[in-house]
Amino acid sequence: MGKINVAILAGGSSVERDISLRSCENITANLDNDKYNIKIYELPKDGSTNWAREIIKEPPDIVLSALHGGNGENGSLQGFLHCLGIPFAGSRVLSSALCMDKKTAKTVMAANHIQVPADVCIKRGERLIDYADEIRQMGFPLIAKPNRGGSSIGIGIAYDMDELEKAVDSIAKKYDDDVIAEKYIQGQEITCAVAESKDSIDVMAVLDINKRGDIFDYEDKSKSSSPLGDISNMPVFMQDMVKAIAVKTFTVLKCRGYACVDMIVKDEQIYVIEVNTLPGLTDKSLIPKAAQISNMSFGEFLDRLIEFELR
Ligand SMILES: Nc1ncnc2c1ncn2[C@@H]1O[C@H](COP(=O)(O)OP(=O)(O)O)[C@@H](O)[C@H]1O
Ligand SMILES: [Mg+2]
Repeated sequence: MGKINVAILAGGSSVERDISLRSCENITANLDNDKYNIKIYELPKDGSTNWAREIIKEPPDIVLSALHGGNGENGSLQGFLHCLGIPFAGSRVLSSALCMDKKTAKTVMAANHIQVPADVCIKRGERLIDYADEIRQMGFPLIAKPNRGGSSIGIGIAYDMDELEKAVDSIAKKYDDDVIAEKYIQGQEITCAVAESKDSIDVMAVLDINKRGDIFDYEDKSKSSSPLGDISNMPVFMQDMVKAIAVKTFTVLKCRGYACVDMIVKDEQIYVIEVNTLPGLTDKSLIPKAAQISNMSFGEFLDRLIEFELR
C-alpha cells in the first residue's frame, strides 16, 4: 500500500491561533514519515481562503485538524470538508456546533441525566436586571462566561450582583454572544481524554489539572505550567463514575474520534463543565499526555485516529 496523504490544517483566525500552530508542529513531529505524506495548510489570520481552493484542487486522503476555536471547531470547517467528501478525523458538524454552544450542550447533557452546574443564560442584548430574581435564587459566587468562548478568555467570578453586571457587560462588549452566569463549583477540576476506536469508546486517562487560582485560566492553559496530577486520591467508585460519565457525555453529544470532557468534582458530586472537540495537541497538551498514560505514543494515537476514519 502506498503512503497516505495527510493534510494538517492549522493557524486560522481564532484567539487560539498560536496554540494551533504548536499543535500542528507536534502532529508533524509525531506522524510516521514512512506511512504518510504530510502537507500543512496554514490558514491565515485574516480569514482569506486560498488554502480552500488548494485543498479542493488536490484533496488529501484525510485531514487532521490542528485548529482550535472559531470556525475550525464550531462545525463550519467540518461542514466544508463534509461537502467536499474529504475524510477528516474528529467530531462532525452537529457535535462540533453543539459542544461550541455551551448552553445548548448543557441542555442536552441535563436531558440525559448528566449533572451540570445550574445557570442562568443572559441572551445577547438583554438586561441583567430582568434575570435578577433567578440569579439571586441561584446564589453567589457565579462564574460568567461567553456562551461560545474558549481558552477561559473573558471568564470571571462574581461574588455579588455588581460584579456580575461588570462581568456581563465586559463579555457583551467583547463578544457578540450570550452570557452564561453559572454556579461556581469549588472543587477538583479534572479532564477526561476520551478516544474512540472501531469497537469502543474509552477514557485514555483522567487528569487533575491542578488549577492554582480560582479558574484554570488562559495563562495556565497556554503555558501548561502547573504539573498535571491524576485522580488516584479519589475513591475507586468515584473514578469509575467519572469515566462512565465521560463516555456517556461523549456519546450523547455525538462526539467522534477524540475529545476532552472537563469536569469539577465536589463532595462526591460530578459536574460536567464542557466538552472540547478539538482539544490542544501540543507536546504539553492533555491528549498526548493521556495517550502516553494509556501506553500509546502520540504517533500511535494519530495512527489509530487515521485508521479509524479510513477503515
Ligand atoms: N461552574 C464552574 N465552577 C467553577 N469553575 C468553573 C466553572 N465553569 C468554568 N470554570 C473555570 O473556568 C475555566 C474555563 O471555563 P470553561 O467553561 O471550560 O470555558 P472555556 O471554553 O473558556 O475553556 C474552567 O477550566 C474552570 O477552571
Ligand atoms: Mg474549558
